[in-house]
Amino acid sequence: MMDTLFINAKEILLVEKDSSVLVKKGTQMSQIDTITNGYLYIKDGLIEDYGSMDNIDISFYEGVRIEDISGRTLMPAFCDSHTHIVYAGSREKEFADKIKGLSYKEIAARGGGILNSVELLHNTSEQELYRQSMERVGEILSFGTAAVEIKSGYGLSLEDELKMLRVAKMIEESSPLTVKRSFLGAHAVPARYKDNRIEYVNEIINCMIPVIASEDLAEFVDVFTEDGFFSVEDTDRIFNAAIKYGLRPKVHANQMSISGGVEVGVKYNALSVDHLEFTGPDQFKVLKDSDTIATLLPGSTFFLEMDYAPARAMIDYGLPVALATNYNPGSSPSGDMKFMMVLASLKMKMTPEEVINAATINGAYAMGLSHTHGSISKGKIANIIVTNPIPSYMYIPYAISAPLVNRLFIEGKEVMLS
Ligand code: NIG
Repeated sequence: MMDTLFINAKEILLVEKDSSVLVKKGTQMSQIDTITNGYLYIKDGLIEDYGSMDNIDISFYEGVRIEDISGRTLMPAFCDSHTHIVYAGSREKEFADKIKGLSYKEIAARGGGILNSVELLHNTSEQELYRQSMERVGEILSFGTAAVEIKSGYGLSLEDELKMLRVAKMIEESSPLTVKRSFLGAHAVPARYKDNRIEYVNEIINCMIPVIASEDLAEFVDVFTEDGFFSVEDTDRIFNAAIKYGLRPKVHANQMSISGGVEVGVKYNALSVDHLEFTGPDQFKVLKDSDTIATLLPGSTFFLEMDYAPARAMIDYGLPVALATNYNPGSSPSGDMKFMMVLASLKMKMTPEEVINAATINGAYAMGLSHTHGSISKGKIANIIVTNPIPSYMYIPYAISAPLVNRLFIEGKEVMLS
């Protein structure tokens, strides 16, 4: 592999230069390490060295490809730790219903929502599902994402959940992205179990988890713990079964009510609890001193026109916060991490430093990847965005729709962006 030396970077957002720091909490989130007028050396796909242009000895780099990026900034590629990018079709008709005033729950109760996507996916071949999902892969790469978590949950039968997870695996094998897969069989109760949710939970525990784990198709297990979806008891049973197969829990928690999802997540040492629009001091207390990160999804809060998660209060309380897109056809049809940073700044009062930490190193933590991803630290994988010219990093969440990404390097190799 050709090694690369970037020179004359206007600024390098290392985010965190100490590679032993795996997550940033509370006041640590207002700190980002930067270098002005810098160089960055990538060797064998890893961050080998960086520093100020004042201290570089170019003769040392003979035979290395040199990229003069004068005026541009380098930063770590984004780590999007909550997505549903494997899905079939789209749901713009529901969008029109929403504009007419129907709520997310009302749309779901009419057979729309998740169950609509379940039917579409059931009637789509694996090959076609892969083709459609790869279009979204191209899209998120162009937004600067290099690592992504992908959930199942539009199958809701063993056969279709396997189909989704196999497609997620094919994405991992055929694209430059680092992919983490989550089994979300408990995303909604399928029509065939309409009046018998417990039987569906039994099917998840007895039929789905053992097969998915034995085929090594997921690293995480997720549950939508919410009134009208799955109870705390269901979640407890599913996690209790899944951890025996080595699946680490994640939770869709407190999206529409105080659901108990945070408490059951922390009880099972969940890697992340996600959404948290309905969250207060009781939940902050539970999260404090746990290894579970709060992952906030402002794209769906924006799209569903709800109240935003209390990010400011969480950070002031000392918690770590990650940002993710929740890219899905129902509540967040966007995979644009920069847009999430804009929303988090404007609507959740997170500072530029906080949104950058949340979209990079903390997102990596929420996928169990922060030892290798999420910052420009020596020894980490060289996943780097070369930005369009920007005056400073503060411009990123400010310039609402200005394209950020000029070039993207993953494992030190340039990715051709669509
Ligand atoms: O995170 N809340 C559950 N799941 C998704 C929505 C999925 C859909 O509507 O298709 C979410 O918002």
